[in-house]
Amino acid sequence: MAGIVLVGAQWGDEGKGKITDLIAYDMDVVVRFQGGNNAGHTIVHSGKTYALHLIPSGVMYPHITPVIGNGCVIDPKVLIEEMDRLQADGLATHRLRISCNAHLIMPYHRDLDGASERRLGKLEIGTTRRGIGPAYQDKASRMGLRVQDLQDERIFRRKLEAALAEKNAILEKVYGLPGYTVESIAEEYLGYSERIEPHIADTAQLVNTALRADQWVLFEGAQGTLLDIDHGTYPFVTSSNPTAGGACTGVGVGPKSIDRVLGVAKAYITRVGSGPFPTELEDCPGGAGEHLQSVGGEFGTTTGRKRRCGWFDAVIVRYAVQVNGITDLVVTKLDVLSKLETVKVCVAYRHEGHRYNELPCHQTIFHKARPIYEELPGWQEDITGCRTFEELPKNAKAYIEFLEDLAEVPVSIIAVGPEREQTIMRRWERRP
Ligand code: IMP
Repeated sequence: MAGIVLVGAQWGDEGKGKITDLIAYDMDVVVRFQGGNNAGHTIVHSGKTYALHLIPSGVMYPHITPVIGNGCVIDPKVLIEEMDRLQADGLATHRLRISCNAHLIMPYHRDLDGASERRLGKLEIGTTRRGIGPAYQDKASRMGLRVQDLQDERIFRRKLEAALAEKNAILEKVYGLPGYTVESIAEEYLGYSERIEPHIADTAQLVNTALRADQWVLFEGAQGTLLDIDHGTYPFVTSSNPTAGGACTGVGVGPKSIDRVLGVAKAYITRVGSGPFPTELEDCPGGAGEHLQSVGGEFGTTTGRKRRCGWFDAVIVRYAVQVNGITDLVVTKLDVLSKLETVKVCVAYRHEGHRYNELPCHQTIFHKARPIYEELPGWQEDITGCRTFEELPKNAKAYIEFLEDLAEVPVSIIAVGPEREQTIMRRWERRP
């Protein structure tokens, strides 16, 4: 095994950070392949909590090369702040490598993200307003500035001038916002280049060389399957491909380099931002939704927004297994379900008298779909001390086995608490 992809099987925030951190010790390279600082990985490491937004969690280990791949979009100011914070905490960042082909998030991207959301009003996507969508928009329209442009002042200014001719018109005429001068942005961004330059690399080459040398590479996904621009609940999605295929394009490796795909899913489900959510539990004092929200501490790492909570949706996870080629499921936050009298799992949807066992392709149906639940008995025991599957209460084991049957893949890792050791490694062989 050399290439392992880790993806979110739901709408993001599945607890991928903890799992990456857990298996990272076996890795030589950890590479992010999409997204930007819209992501938020919370990692509890040696009793300290770290919130990483852009830098791969491999940075926590001195033997790992953390890499930001070409499929990512980078806000250089945020990147430098994150490096500074890690250094202040005593973590070295000199090994970090950044793709020369990754795109830059520019100040006008952030402005346009916010302005476009305000204009959408009630129809807003609920983006993180970090400029992610507009940066990918410019990448697709071939108007983006890339990390390598920071290394050539003349090119940087020329591309920026071309971009501003359009961006200023939109900012001023469409949104009534002030525009930018080439000088103001060039001064700021070229100022960052000195700091970033030592980290810029041909990361596709780096990762392929590592794979050829039989090193272990973890491709770390951000967000989740249903936020994928192609396979998610469009338009309420992010602007990149967080699904496993994105690991190939976002790093520059072939599909045969991927040996195992871990799909991370919470034992229930959450969503931030707008969009359909069949198993959502509306806020109800003392109800199951409130239990999941408060016991699970469901607030966004990046925006601090309260997450919408609902029961586990097996239709979604089965879909994620298919779209990503998931070989193993990782179920996180199982401990959050403790103390509930019963737990529900959505096994299919109903709409206008039809039963849907698979995710309906038509979004109107998905918006209106009602969940069909199976109700299982809960467990009252505290499971945070369990370290093997056998130690779990009977009903918790039955719950996991039920999810396995529905998803048709094994649940190989189970998280029963936020700490690294609060994990049940059922099928994960340490590197020999
Ligand atoms: P954007 O990625 O900021 O453009 O936001 C698009 C959608 O993706 C919104 O619904 C966001 O709430 C959601 N989103 C983006 N990043 C994350 C994440 O890391 N976790 C969960 N939702 C996310």
